[in-house]
Amino acid sequence: MKFFIFTYGCQMNEYDSEIMSGLLNEMNLIQADDPKEADIIIFNTCCVREHAEEKVFGRLGQLKKLKVKNPNLIIAIGGCMTQQKGMADEIIRRFPYIDIVFGTYNTFQLPEMINKVMKDRQSIVNIWEKEGEIIEKLPIKRTDKIKAWIPIIHGCNNFCSYCIVPYVRGRERSRSMKEIIQEAKKLESEGYREITILGQNVNSYGKDLNEKVEFADLLYALNDIRGIKRIRFITSHPKDFSDRLITAISECDNVCEHIHLPLQSGSNKILKLMNRHYTKEHYEELVYKIRNKIPNSSITTDIIIGFPGETDEDFFDTLDLINRLEFDSAFTFMYSKRKGTPAALMPGHIDTEVKKNRLFQLMAVQEEITHNKNRELLGKTLEVLVEGVDTKTRNRLIGRTRTNKITFIDGDQETVGKIVKVKINKTKTWTLEGEIVD
Ligand code: SAH
Ligand code: SF4
Ligand code: F3S
Repeated sequence: MKFFIFTYGCQMNEYDSEIMSGLLNEMNLIQADDPKEADIIIFNTCCVREHAEEKVFGRLGQLKKLKVKNPNLIIAIGGCMTQQKGMADEIIRRFPYIDIVFGTYNTFQLPEMINKVMKDRQSIVNIWEKEGEIIEKLPIKRTDKIKAWIPIIHGCNNFCSYCIVPYVRGRERSRSMKEIIQEAKKLESEGYREITILGQNVNSYGKDLNEKVEFADLLYALNDIRGIKRIRFITSHPKDFSDRLITAISECDNVCEHIHLPLQSGSNKILKLMNRHYTKEHYEELVYKIRNKIPNSSITTDIIIGFPGETDEDFFDTLDLINRLEFDSAFTFMYSKRKGTPAALMPGHIDTEVKKNRLFQLMAVQEEITHNKNRELLGKTLEVLVEGVDTKTRNRLIGRTRTNKITFIDGDQETVGKIVKVKINKTKTWTLEGEIVD
């Protein structure tokens, strides 16, 4: 029998889908290349913005045809979306042909749920109210052979007022340093070159553990695993990015000098309403500190426009800061109302047209900055980890610089998986191009 997984949302979900694949492989199920060939279809969903949910609803609707054709098809849905209050009922009501609804805390139960449905042919809704212990040593089938995800902390305690994540991922739970190191060493022995360590806020790592460790200690320990040539981390919260962490990044040669540091807004009034616990002055100082201590670092960010109460003036504050800080790139989002979050009940929700307008302005400004930043790299020689062959042209290689810039290179397939020196001879807004020089 074959299965297919649709994955939405962030890297944490990508990792969870790899765990689901591992679990299903252990049941002797194999991965289908196409959902049409699958006997089991699984949705691993995201609910961070309304748009993410709409995509899932759209796809679920389409599956009805497949289910009519093949009544034995099993459809399961899990992930962040189903974990929201009342959502499981809504899903079952709108899509009664779904067989399994599970949540973010009980992914590991997927095999038993599938077995039960195969036996009884009755649908199951199984969502845990609260997070349980972290379950270690689950099987995993990773998608990539060169780079891998490692979660280090689950959940979030920050409760930014717009954000649904703390309600669907529970409180912060750090994995033990021993487990993380073991996982990284295993990846090293399997030939992986790059790891990205994951958490909603990696800076919180260790705060809930009995052992006295913090995120910087983890970076030093991972840096000692010499076969892993690149260590990336997402995401950092600006409120607790310590000096010790900056030092650790600068001292650990395998830790890449790329920092994703969501700003969200450049207005102190909005930052306060967002419950972000920093001011734009603090953020700005942090950026200068990072650039000072970590030369050639790239800093990227997330921005939300149209948060309730955002005036033109607040928006101009954001534009102004974006202009001054010159991020390497930015993910920009229109505020999306999430039921159950404090911001949903705040006054002053912004008109969609106004939001769109602000978003386009912001994107135009950032695009030019990103392009200029890339242009500065023209003629420079940078280290690139070759990740694969460009699927479009097929005769170019594709990789990333340490600063996480996508780079196209001429070269042959044998270079895949290697770190090469590349002289940049062309720059575009989103990508670099170059040739291997040694
Ligand atoms: N824990 C990470 C990622 C959170 S989700 C962090 O704190 O950085 C990724 C991004 O989605 C956030 O940084 C934020 O910019 C955006 N986001 C979260 N909730 C949103 C909402 N309700 N509307 C629009 N964007 C949102
Ligand atoms: Fe959401 Fe804020 Fe937690 Fe990030 S830090 S997951 S934005 S609540
Ligand atoms: Fe989405 Fe859940 Fe990640 S809401 S962004 S998949 S933690």
